[in-house]
Amino acid sequence: MAKSILFVCLGNICRSPLAEGAMRDAVLKAGQEFLIDSAGTGAWHIGNPPDPRSIAVAARHGVDISGLRARQVEQADFERFTHIIALDRNNLSDLKSLKPEESEARLSLLLDHLPGREGQNVADPYYGDDSDFTRAWQDVSAATAEFCRSLP
Ligand code: 4NP
Repeated sequence: MAKSILFVCLGNICRSPLAEGAMRDAVLKAGQEFLIDSAGTGAWHIGNPPDPRSIAVAARHGVDISGLRARQVEQADFERFTHIIALDRNNLSDLKSLKPEESEARLSLLLDHLPGREGQNVADPYYGDDSDFTRAWQDVSAATAEFCRSLP
């Protein structure tokens, strides 16, 4: 089965759109092709574009995420995606509760893919400032680049 990757945070407007954008960029640069998407465990921002601060930090790194729209994780995601990657431990625990028994999707924490950062959250920048968004970008770009390298 071809690899397909879903990034999941709480709102799908700050961290997981950054992860989706960074992963698309890494995959493109590696000359690979995967299905890549993102979603939120919460429903508050369905249909909304990413937070302007996420759009800005991605744009500063040459990645355009302005066309993304938030959606909520749904049961079909557990069949559609081979890898579902949580941005923080709360997201991972919610995903474990939602995962149907028959789903073969591999659930993991994003920073588990970055040596030295295992078990850590990508901190939620929503109530923070630009420096928190910069940190979130640094975390997701380093981890997605490493994850991309690790995929056969
Ligand atoms: P995200 O950030 O999970 O990285 O998209 C958040 C966005 C919105 C909210 C919380 C976190 N919110 O409470 O509305």
